Amino acid sequence: RTVYVNGAYVPETEAKVSVFDRAFLFGDGIYEVASVLGGKLIDFPAHIARLHRSANELGMRIDVSDEEILAIHRELVSRNEVEEGVVYMQLTRGAVDRDFMFDTEKLKPTLVLFTQTRPLVDTAVARNGMKIVSIPDLRWGRCDIKTVQLLYPSLGKMEAKSRGADDAWMVRDGVVTEGTSNNAFIVTKTGAIVTRPLSNAILPGITRAALMSYSTASGTPVEEREFTIDEAREAAEAFITSASVFVGPVISIDGVELSGGKPGPVTLGLRKTYLEESL
Ligand code: PDD
Repeated sequence: RTVYVNGAYVPETEAKVSVFDRAFLFGDGIYEVASVLGGKLIDFPAHIARLHRSANELGMRIDVSDEEILAIHRELVSRNEVEEGVVYMQLTRGAVDRDFMFDTEKLKPTLVLFTQTRPLVDTAVARNGMKIVSIPDLRWGRCDIKTVQLLYPSLGKMEAKSRGADDAWMVRDGVVTEGTSNNAFIVTKTGAIVTRPLSNAILPGITRAALMSYSTASGTPVEEREFTIDEAREAAEAFITSASVFVGPVISIDGVELSGGKPGPVTLGLRKTYLEESL
């Protein structure tokens, strides 16, 4: 695999980042994951806009133009012959001798990109759905910024696995915030599609936004309101959205089966619409 590090395309075995990089020492980095279908990037402008938002919120510099970042994405997709998969992009504040304080102006940001080839459309999750368990949301207060501080979500997924599930939904004060790496939705027994409103508590998902605009266009707008984990367990259907899964059916929550333990019809319809519209 060829990867990109600070202006150079290099074999992954030769890529180097400083041990003093602030993302390595402090988690001081932001990232984006964009999917690739049929060799084409999905929703790239939205990912670049969110990268800028994350950088602004943290006072981080982006020295590379949007056009250049798009060109790097395309170059890696082409060099690594990615038909279906993702491009991972990480920007860090840069490398400097370890100190909690920093001077962004004096630092040169580190930009790293790599690709991962894997099926996204025809997957076990799409066919069979996923089992979810709930865990407390113990993350920091700025979950709207896409930082590389992913230890808690990573441990959450491991806990889900140890409990015989595929992923976890995080809960604060009884209310579902989001999945460990995705946004959470339910379909109520009356057919309403519900997701919680944006705030500092969740990531503004690109897939979430796209799905919401498609469902508005098709006449069933998504209702933005908080829902509890109890309401989710009693919902007709549930699903998640993310750039790498698109729309992922949820078939059980904390062992309680939804839609008869199979992906629900509304969810499958939304997945189909998303795949048709985003290509
Ligand atoms: N995760 N919420 C969280 C906490 C996420 O990490 C993600 C994305 C999302 C969905 O956002 P989007 O639709 O823009 O992918 C929501 C990526 C895919 C990851 O960490 O791999």
